[in-house]
Amino acid sequence: MINKRLPKVWYGGDYNPEQWDKDTWDEDYRMFKLAGIDVATINVFSWALNQPNEDTYHLEWLDETIDRLHENGVFVCLATSTGAHPAWMARKYPDIRRVDFEGRKRQFGGRHNSCPSSPTYRKYAERMASKLAERYKNHPAVLIWHVSNEYGGYCYCDNCANGFREWLKSRYDTLDAVNKAWNTSFWGHTFYEWEEIVPPNGLSEEWQGGQNTNFQGISLDYRRFQSDRLLECYQLERDAIRKHTPDIPITTNLMGLYPELDYFKWAKEMDIISWDNYPSIDTPVSLTAMTHDLMRGLKGGDPFMLMEQTPSQQNWQPYNSLKRPGVMRLWSYQAVARGADTIMFFQLRRSIGATEKYHGAVIEHVGHEQTRVFRESADLGRELIQLSDKFIDARINARVAIVFDWENRWAIDLSSGPSIALDYVQEIHKYYDALYEQNVQVDMIGVEEELSKYDIVIAPVLYMVKSGHAKKLEAFVAAGGTLVTTFFSGIVNENDLVTTGGYPGELRKLLGIWAEEIDALDPKVTNQIVMKETLGDLQGEYECNLLFDLIHTEGAEVLATYGSDFYQGMPVLTKNIFGTGHAYYVASSPDKAFLKGLLSNLCHDKGIEPLVKSAEQGVEVSERVKAGKSYLFLLNHNEEKATFVLKEQRKDLITGQSISQKATIPGRAIMILEN
Ligand code: GLA
Ligand code: ZN
Repeated sequence: MINKRLPKVWYGGDYNPEQWDKDTWDEDYRMFKLAGIDVATINVFSWALNQPNEDTYHLEWLDETIDRLHENGVFVCLATSTGAHPAWMARKYPDIRRVDFEGRKRQFGGRHNSCPSSPTYRKYAERMASKLAERYKNHPAVLIWHVSNEYGGYCYCDNCANGFREWLKSRYDTLDAVNKAWNTSFWGHTFYEWEEIVPPNGLSEEWQGGQNTNFQGISLDYRRFQSDRLLECYQLERDAIRKHTPDIPITTNLMGLYPELDYFKWAKEMDIISWDNYPSIDTPVSLTAMTHDLMRGLKGGDPFMLMEQTPSQQNWQPYNSLKRPGVMRLWSYQAVARGADTIMFFQLRRSIGATEKYHGAVIEHVGHEQTRVFRESADLGRELIQLSDKFIDARINARVAIVFDWENRWAIDLSSGPSIALDYVQEIHKYYDALYEQNVQVDMIGVEEELSKYDIVIAPVLYMVKSGHAKKLEAFVAAGGTLVTTFFSGIVNENDLVTTGGYPGELRKLLGIWAEEIDALDPKVTNQIVMKETLGDLQGEYECNLLFDLIHTEGAEVLATYGSDFYQGMPVLTKNIFGTGHAYYVASSPDKAFLKGLLSNLCHDKGIEPLVKSAEQGVEVSERVKAGKSYLFLLNHNEEKATFVLKEQRKDLITGQSISQKATIPGRAIMILEN
């Protein structure tokens, strides 16, 4: 449980009373009560208010805020206010201001703007965290610490450049090793002094905002370094807090598929994962589901926090659509169904000025409770009170895992060739979606996760094979596991240096194939996957596109071949028996029908069944289990009602009614069914 003081799904969100007068505070408490709101995330952006100069701290407003919230039945998720530095600090200590990708020294402005190497930032952020922790360590309202806010962005200043050199020294020890790792004999880049190394940006090796680089090795390491650097800032604040409150959990809000930080590494330093979920009206619901699963996977399946979502619309998307009636509740339960133990919003009251004044909020500009958004929020709040601690801490048991790795993603994104259309996240999502549509539960895992608990491991585009990973996958398959990997796998090591001797490098033995060439065509151009014979759900022809590995078998069985082009008849789907398990290679990017068929066959072979007997398209199912009890979440993403067939009768947790095997769920509705 995140904190025993509130044993239910937490309900609330970001709240900025510093933007309002005291009369409004009273109104807030009244309305929070009506909406069943029990947690407020406060002090996220109040550094300038809290510390008007170097030696003065004004925290009285915060004392009052916390006390009054608590008196009114609202706990706090207490942020440290370091997500944006004060203007005076930026003026007095220029080191806190970042240097951007184009090499420009930033002025004061914006947020998430501090240089992670800045001695000033580190000193004052740590001091602020420490002061807050000392002051509120015994306050009964404080449930959790929220360090800074949405860490992200890179800096290219001189302090970062020096820090990068130090980071490189500790990773590689010698300059010689750096030269090797980056293959600097290419284009005459050999470094003879550490000081010759400069950050890769628009002034040196990269262009298009960092989407392209001349030296993948340098760029990859700079990403690692910046991710680590920001993480150190998190750790500084965390440790300062922990000294005072060793028993209160500490988190920072992550951003799902955010590309710039290696969240698996971050997760090790966090007590609980929390994240901000902002899909737009046309985001595939299975992509959101996958992101929740990924956030759960960061800490080995532990329940996580939905820290932010909007009750209605955003302000920063091109078209800020309203969440249609029922959708806020539906998407809230989607988070819960996939492991969230909190449902929290940005924001509780809508601001009147600056960039977020048109961002949705529980309390809107009109100020009263007679709004659609408030009514929907309050209905959900009451429901969560009724559900109490039912499925809090319940876990998800998946037997299928999909591997996701940020460093591999960086390497693929930075790669020059073979195709600009190759998108790691999209390829991962294709596999996820094929399982999602069949209501098979999936864990999204990192490369360090223990594999023996899974029957099937899917590692799409495993371009970068890290040291020891191939051996680990071999052991998994040898012991009976099924592995699926795809085109453009096993190509490079951790430094983006090609493994010579034939693709897929270290995976070659396991897969029993050799990939001689890789063809890349405009994604509109397709080839065919021609099945050699009917294989369970797979028969006939399917389409594939994007990349096409030209492979030869070295022991693997050919299950399908290309249907056209000069490599017609060459293998496109292979299966290798390795020990007591099977390793599959999918040499191109297949259509959905193929992936559904392939994965349903593999699940069938392993006795992995969908969570329900059947469900109409658009009905998402997920299961959480706790103390021998199963909670089946059914989410109907369709506007219209839909039917499903359960494996057994269950009880609807919200209505108390018994649900027979074949049942109907209204449009955009949810059901939580207990066994
Ligand atoms: C992020 C931030 C919030 C707010 C929301 C708006 O998640 O953490 O402060 O800006 O976006 O969607
Ligand atoms: Zn910097």
